[in-house]
Amino acid sequence: MEIGIDQITFATTPFYITMDDLADARQVDPNKYKIGIGQERQAVVPPTQDIVTLGAQAASKLSPKSLRNVSTLIVATESGVDNSKASGIYIKRLLGLNDYIRVVETKEACYSATAALQFARGIVALNPSENVLVIAADIARYGLNTPAEVTQGAGAVAMIISQNPRVLTIENTSVAYTKDIMDFWRPLYSMEAYVDGKYSNQVYVDFFLKTYHRYVQLTGRSLADFAALIFHLPYTKMGKKGLDGLLQDDASPVAERLRNNLAAEQKVSRQVGNLYTGSLYLGLISLLQNGDVTPGERIGLFSYGSGAEGEFYSGILQPDYRNQIGDDLLQTLQKRHQLSIGEYEKMFNDQLGMRKEDIIYDIDTDPSEFVLVGQQGNQRIYQEK
Ligand code: CAA
Repeated sequence: MEIGIDQITFATTPFYITMDDLADARQVDPNKYKIGIGQERQAVVPPTQDIVTLGAQAASKLSPKSLRNVSTLIVATESGVDNSKASGIYIKRLLGLNDYIRVVETKEACYSATAALQFARGIVALNPSENVLVIAADIARYGLNTPAEVTQGAGAVAMIISQNPRVLTIENTSVAYTKDIMDFWRPLYSMEAYVDGKYSNQVYVDFFLKTYHRYVQLTGRSLADFAALIFHLPYTKMGKKGLDGLLQDDASPVAERLRNNLAAEQKVSRQVGNLYTGSLYLGLISLLQNGDVTPGERIGLFSYGSGAEGEFYSGILQPDYRNQIGDDLLQTLQKRHQLSIGEYEKMFNDQLGMRKEDIIYDIDTDPSEFVLVGQQGNQRIYQEK
């Protein structure tokens, strides 16, 4: 039985800043942010948005028919809003999903959407008529005026995992690799991540090479068997570091095609920033909307989560993929509202975060379909507008 991604959709916040403005405010050469890091714009999160609203926004773009068939909802995130309750239960209500459903949350930094996808394949293999909804939703938050501020971002990707998928069938061979490493972490008491940035770059490339080479050993495949290799993108330059680590100075047509398709993967991410769990899957949408790929071809995917865990796996592109990947994101993202750095800093500081007090936000300032209205008696209040 073929199992994989049947539909895939994306949502982010309605607000952004430009890296030119951020560089100006932080007195940094803009080329460091635009070329050295590889970002143009960054999604900004108003206090009325969190992973629940972002996840609901992404999933509401899936077809009603496939949502009706969902037996299991898995939210992959490292920006959870509750240490006990799964964020997916709020999303389940906002989407109006059937009560006869199981809902859980997975966590391992930016990696856990890939774990969720693999678990979903198992559920579908045992129950072929069921759909699993995987939502990867996160807010990448490092702090104002930190070196990693330029690598922030936010958004969610929603995927239906089913039999006879119309986007990508997932192949059986995958290689996961895990080691106890402190390259990036966020203790329970902190809203911002701690990061050993340069070390995290090295571990990422090392894990990519280890998992890719083992996959090649197990399958006997080579570079020529891939139309594209796509990467978790904490910032777009990171994907280049990964691919450069493998290709080195290879100038063959196969290598050039992989470089061009990496550029296609990077296009949307450059406008949004890091999504943590969703970044690899936003990269998949971006590749499919902007790259040179043909049904029947193989795509290799490298998922990485600090802490650290990597997985390399592959899938085969399906004939009807173009109709299952949502609207042209580069166009859609043009409709967002640009903020000044002062407005961004205020939104950053107004996030609910770990605050305990009762609060009601002005939801009229946020045009999104689903909003966080506030918090009363330690309970978050969500609403469809
Ligand atoms: N013009 C062009 N390029 C310039 C430049 C200029 N004027 N000035 C600097 N650069 C280049 C540098 O040469 C460098 O390029 P290389 O990486 O290719 O050497 C790049 O810009 C960045 O410069 P620095 O190394 O000086 O930057 P920094 O010290 O400010 O830190 C960072 C960069 C480590 C990525 C930091 O932003 C960070 O810590 N980010 C968060 C951690 C992260 O994303 N790690 C990725 C792997 S971990 C992961 O993937 C999980 C996850 O999502 C977090």
